[in-house]
Amino acid sequence: MIGTRRWLGVAAAVALCLAPMSTAQASAGRPADVGTDALTAMHDEAFAAAQYLAYGEAASRAGRPGVAALFRRTAADESSDHFAAEAALSGFVGSDVANLQVGITGESQDLTDYDRWATEAAADRCPAAAELFTEVRRDEAGHLARYATAVEALVDPASGVTVPDPPAVEPVAVVPGPAKCAPRTTANLQSAMQGEAFAWAKYTLFAKHAAAAGRPRLAALFNGAGQMELREHFVGEANLAGLVADVPGNLRISIAAETQAMAMYGAAAQRAAQAGDAAAAALFRQIRGDERSHREAFLAALNNLTGSTG
Ligand SMILES: [Fe+2]
Ligand SMILES: [Fe+2]
Ligand SMILES: [Fe+2]
Repeated sequence: MIGTRRWLGVAAAVALCLAPMSTAQASAGRPADVGTDALTAMHDEAFAAAQYLAYGEAASRAGRPGVAALFRRTAADESSDHFAAEAALSGFVGSDVANLQVGITGESQDLTDYDRWATEAAADRCPAAAELFTEVRRDEAGHLARYATAVEALVDPASGVTVPDPPAVEPVAVVPGPAKCAPRTTANLQSAMQGEAFAWAKYTLFAKHAAAAGRPRLAALFNGAGQMELREHFVGEANLAGLVADVPGNLRISIAAETQAMAMYGAAAQRAAQAGDAAAAALFRQIRGDERSHREAFLAALNNLTGSTG
């Protein structure tokens, strides 16, 4: 099931994300169902975008530049378009200080989760995962400390505290292959990947907000942390979880994911319409149409590929 969209699986994460948010960030006055559907969809979009970027890199390495470009374009639709539109719909982005506090809450939760996952990976005799989880936990502690300092700098400009430099990112190469660990640790890797993809997507939006507010150092901090979530943490976990297969396999997984996304957006549009939120219903319907186009493009690429090689 790796690589398919897991609507139910993110429900708990969505509840956690809603909890620490300010009222303004939670739903922007929309019906509760719409707020929940938008946030659930954002988790899904972030995961799809990160997954397609990994598939794009693998296609590029496999000498399939056309397929690589398709994956990259689709990833941009999911993140810059769908995720961003749903964030705007639900009022997800707040003030720079509120965004930092959302980051701090997420990173604090990561410390607890990664601690447990590292212990379980060691018990599951998967030292590579235990090592990765421990290393990621150290990085998250660094993000947490930087964000705490940035809050100080913003809240009390007279303190002399400045927004810290972003962390240095050392991208991990995508390696196709099967899952490397026992089922429990593989499931933990999947949960971790979902969190990393969402963190990347939300920090990217927070960076845009900071840049627009005239805070380039804060924008650089959010972008740097986001790139580490995506290019080090997500990819490192994906390599151990067996997220990436060969190019036709990745296309098949993506076709299934887009089919599930269409069903989800159809249901979300219906709920929004029933709740009297015409704007949300229209957005969900429009995204459903985009997912259909993605599915068709992936199908065409797969047919082209199997036709040319088989
Ligand atoms: Fe999407
Ligand atoms: Fe991370
Ligand atoms: Fe899509």
